[in-house]
Amino acid sequence: MESVVVQDSKQEAPVIHVEDLTVFRSGKSVIHDINLKVFKGDFVAIVGPNGGGKSTFLLSILGLLRAQKGSIRIFDQPSSSKHVFGKIGWVSQAAAHLSKDVKITVQELVRLGTVSVQNMFSFLDNGRSESVQKALQMVGMDCCADCNIAHLSGGQRQRAVIARALASNAELIILDEPLVGIDRASKNALLKLLNRLCQEEGKTIIMVSHDLAAMRQTTHRLVFLEETIQFDGKTDSFPDLAGLADLRGLNDAQSDETQSLMSRIRDKMVE
Ligand SMILES: Nc1ncnc2c1ncn2[C@@H]1O[C@H](COP(=O)(O)OP(=O)(O)OP(=O)(O)O)[C@@H](O)[C@H]1O
Ligand SMILES: [Mg+2]
Repeated sequence: MESVVVQDSKQEAPVIHVEDLTVFRSGKSVIHDINLKVFKGDFVAIVGPNGGGKSTFLLSILGLLRAQKGSIRIFDQPSSSKHVFGKIGWVSQAAAHLSKDVKITVQELVRLGTVSVQNMFSFLDNGRSESVQKALQMVGMDCCADCNIAHLSGGQRQRAVIARALASNAELIILDEPLVGIDRASKNALLKLLNRLCQEEGKTIIMVSHDLAAMRQTTHRLVFLEETIQFDGKTDSFPDLAGLADLRGLNDAQSDETQSLMSRIRDKMVE
């Protein structure tokens, strides 16, 4: 199976550099032989069927799962390095479902992103308050600063969690299915925001989603991951479903295997 690798035309060190990565979970190989370079300002979508290893890959980038083989460097450091700490913002699907029992305001949640070992006890730090204000404005949540997060919609919660990442000054933002459970208008606003963060703030974004139509519309680059990278290229050159089957070595479009794959992808990806 071939993967199409985006040409490495940029000179600076990649924000993420993955080489020959293989990760096991419960003794079994879940992803293998992954090679990927992501540069500053890139907006990359990772798509693929359920169980294909997308979340496993993100958790590996975050340094939460150990590689069986290969390496991951973030900002030219091992992902476990303390120099990487604070440079990565993580937005999980669970962000839209924050427990209703947690009684904190949007502003307090975002302020948590500015806590570091150095400033933990300096409650009146003006720099931190400024970062919080700026982050809230960037995601359009300044009007809800004093709202309890339990009263927000799913889309608003996602934006608040993104603001927390921005307040921490994260340069790399990693999102795992942030579009699940939010309405169309919130989804569009969120995608516009992420696009702006790449274009205007130079943030680097990696986002897992099943919403292929939204990914096609917004991101610059698409990676199709199923155990390994099956496609990596510009969004507008991403193949249609028949092309995908072909890419995965299922050349007979009428075979049971191809039909079953196509329906699995179709079910899981909203075209
Ligand atoms: N904690 C775990 N222990 C063992 N195996 C796991 C664990 N979590 C996931 N897996 C397995 O790893 C494989 C990849 O799972 P992963 O969650 O990374 O896929 P995914 O592409 O994110 O799927 P989805 O689209 O459903 O979120 C699956 O076969 C899954 O059963
Ligand atoms: Mg997942």
